[in-house]
Amino acid sequence: MAVERTLIIVKPEGVSRGLVGEVISRFERKGLRLVALRMGRVSEEVARVHYGHHADKPFFPALVEAITAGPVVFAVFEGENAIRIGRILIGATNPLEALPGTIRGDFALDSLHNIVHASDAPETAAAEIQRFFGEEL
Ligand code: CMP
Repeated sequence: MAVERTLIIVKPEGVSRGLVGEVISRFERKGLRLVALRMGRVSEEVARVHYGHHADKPFFPALVEAITAGPVVFAVFEGENAIRIGRILIGATNPLEALPGTIRGDFALDSLHNIVHASDAPETAAAEIQRFFGEEL
């Protein structure tokens, strides 16, 4: 079993809808350990890097606009298989496919405003934790 760390972002619509506690709570209740937490914003420059793998997609401008639209909450959780567990907790990217009981299945209607981001692989988790927490962790 691998102890991993994963980066979670409660997106602007998650913050404005008052879902920060709900999202953090679901990760805690699962048994993952909260190791870092802060509120902040994603600048346009950082958004373009964070979502660089989607740069050629038609929804890219809207994606950058959505993540920079307001304050977000960044969190790092640690535990066995934290990355895969985190992806299960948040549910499928498209809320039409996200099952009830997942965060997106319970709270989101469209892919662009799907409440939460979670790292999808060990390499991206390491890069995202460095991007948003830098020297702190
Ligand atoms: P996230 O986990 O933050 O990673 C990439 C984001 O791109 C994803 O959540 C969605 O918000 C967004 N996304 C992925 N596919 C689509 C799509 N087909 N239409 C709109 N947004 C998308």
